[in-house]
Amino acid sequence: MAGTTESNIVVQAEGLTKIFRDFWNRPKAHAVNGIDFQVRQGQIFGLLGPNGSGKSTTVKMILGLLYPTRGVLKVFGKDPQDVEIKSRIGYLPEETYLYRYLTATETLDFYGSLFGMDATMRKERSEQLLNMVGLAHAFNRPVGEFSKGMARRIGLAQALINDPDLVILDEPTSGLDPIGCREVKDVIRLLASRGKTVILCSHLLADVQDLCDDVMVLYGGKVRANGALSDILQLDDKTRVVCPTLSSQTVEELRGWLLAHGVKTPDDISVDHPVRNLEDFFLEVVRKAREQNIATAGAQANGEVPEYLAGADNAAVLESLHRRGENEELLKALKGKAQMEEAKPEEKPTAPSVDMDKLSSLKGTVDSGEPTDEQKSEEEKAAQAQRQKEASERLKNLVGGGDK
Ligand SMILES: Nc1ncnc2c1ncn2[C@@H]1O[C@H](COP(=O)(O)OP(=O)(O)OP(=O)(O)O)[C@@H](O)[C@H]1O
Ligand SMILES: [Mg+2]
Repeated sequence: MAGTTESNIVVQAEGLTKIFRDFWNRPKAHAVNGIDFQVRQGQIFGLLGPNGSGKSTTVKMILGLLYPTRGVLKVFGKDPQDVEIKSRIGYLPEETYLYRYLTATETLDFYGSLFGMDATMRKERSEQLLNMVGLAHAFNRPVGEFSKGMARRIGLAQALINDPDLVILDEPTSGLDPIGCREVKDVIRLLASRGKTVILCSHLLADVQDLCDDVMVLYGGKVRANGALSDILQLDDKTRVVCPTLSSQTVEELRGWLLAHGVKTPDDISVDHPVRNLEDFFLEVVRKAREQNIATAGAQANGEVPEYLAGADNAAVLESLHRRGENEELLKALKGKAQMEEAKPEEKPTAPSVDMDKLSSLKGTVDSGEPTDEQKSEEEKAAQAQRQKEASERLKNLVGGGDK
């Protein structure tokens, strides 16, 4: 992971506080209590904590849906209320909010239209995303009929329709079967390998351990632990050696050797067979069943990752999503490549650069040649303010902003 520079910080919070008040303005809940943290570009950042510890409140402040009571919060170096950054953020709320009577395709088309995407792009991306999340068979079904896991899958597709630079996922794998969980995790890794930043709230610690670079643990709205997962979890006072199975005689000889070379008592030495991960085992069983064409009415395997998310140069990763077992290596290699590129001084990473063409097509307003605020006429300013207000309102209605 690249070191922290001003330019690669995507989210920065200092003394961030949110106090919910009752009707008489008396403090009702100190949801977030003076927290400091940073999320850097390309990171998968885990936000952990028991129920009611302030995770969703923190996320809603990052999204500009709640105003902080105190403290500083910057997203892409700007105030979270700034409408310009909204087109760079994708959000999967903890509850999936969908219009029951819209079909899967209509739902994504609707979200695409909120970002000002043209009809052709909306159609193309909707189909690609529904394929990717394993809903190719449900294009024309009303989403009100969807199972919990299917609703989660379309929620993820919705969060990615605008090709966001920052993706915030609140419990993305809740309600998903193990295959869906693995697919979502693959997509999250892929996004990070493309330099996207992911903030992940989850109670599923195994998933967090699998995915996250850094984690922050909240309790009662305060930070209890924060840092690189590898540093937090590593047991510095122990060493593990893994090798092909040894004979019992060799194990005994090794014990003797270790006791003669500094290990104090036999109880300090443990020898066992490593166990495989249950997720890998389960997926292997399902893969074999699929190979035998055993019928199922349930969810399908995911399809291809859309090229706009994967990038044309990442064909190997696309393919890997269909070849389980190899994808871990490919993603690692890809991430390694991205890090090597980051290390080159002439290609030093900056905060995700704004693609002004894309932004302008998303917002229908801005391009790099747009006059500054000072140059704009009063009418233009009023129109822009109105557009910002409408966009914020639409987003708030969609994701349920809670009270301010
Ligand atoms: N709109 C609201 N009005 C009043 N209190 C709220 C509101 N939203 C959250 N809270 C309170 O803020 C605290 C933190 O809630 P938050 O939803 O951030 O927790 P969380 O960590 O996301 O929990 P969970 O794991 O259950 O999703 C809780 O005490 C909650 O009751
Ligand atoms: Mg929550």
